[in-house]
Amino acid sequence: MTKRVAILLSGGGSNMLKLVESMTGDHPARPVLVASNDPGAGGLARAAALGLATAAVDHRPHGKDRAAFEAALSRHLDAAAPDIVCLAGFMRVLTEGFVRKWEGKMLNIHPSLLPKYKGLHTHARALEAGDAEHGCTVHEVTPALDDGPILGQARVPVLKDDTPDTLAARVLTQEHILYPRVLRRFAQGHRDPVFLDTSVR
Ligand code: GAR
Repeated sequence: MTKRVAILLSGGGSNMLKLVESMTGDHPARPVLVASNDPGAGGLARAAALGLATAAVDHRPHGKDRAAFEAALSRHLDAAAPDIVCLAGFMRVLTEGFVRKWEGKMLNIHPSLLPKYKGLHTHARALEAGDAEHGCTVHEVTPALDDGPILGQARVPVLKDDTPDTLAARVLTQEHILYPRVLRRFAQGHRDPVFLDTSVR
């Protein structure tokens, strides 16, 4: 049975695009919804241009009431009935109740080698720490932020003249390889992690 995939994003959606592009041919999954908390997110427009079903659920009218925002989002998600939910640059912290509902079915990509650098500004933090390598992680979403079983990691070298932006770009290139690879395996039922390493110089 083909798996149904919903993708949640807040920004430009380059990871969403790579996931969608990967879901063709003999891939075990297909995209059924791209949703965002930001009606102006570039990724929503890109998804709509591809002819995908989209939903914008603005979080701002809900203020600090995360559960109310999630209830509105859930109406779209429930209607799409996904088997897998991919967070792809989705920048809202989710409540435990929402996460529990999708536990075992929800993936996230995070721009660091977890458990290092949970949260924001991961590239600047890796540079400040003087790390020799950095990278990204795809993991199952559990109630604790940027936690949960690791499904894949890609490592990149940190170069001498790196800025947060140059490092982010190097990591993003790997995100685009790692996330589709993990999603395909996850949709096939594999949970053992994939490790990509471009840090060998
Ligand atoms: C990606 O680098 C992703 O890892 C990051 O946001 C970017 C989204 O880019 N996610 C997080 O920081 C989540 N905490 P995209 O919109 O081009 O895919």
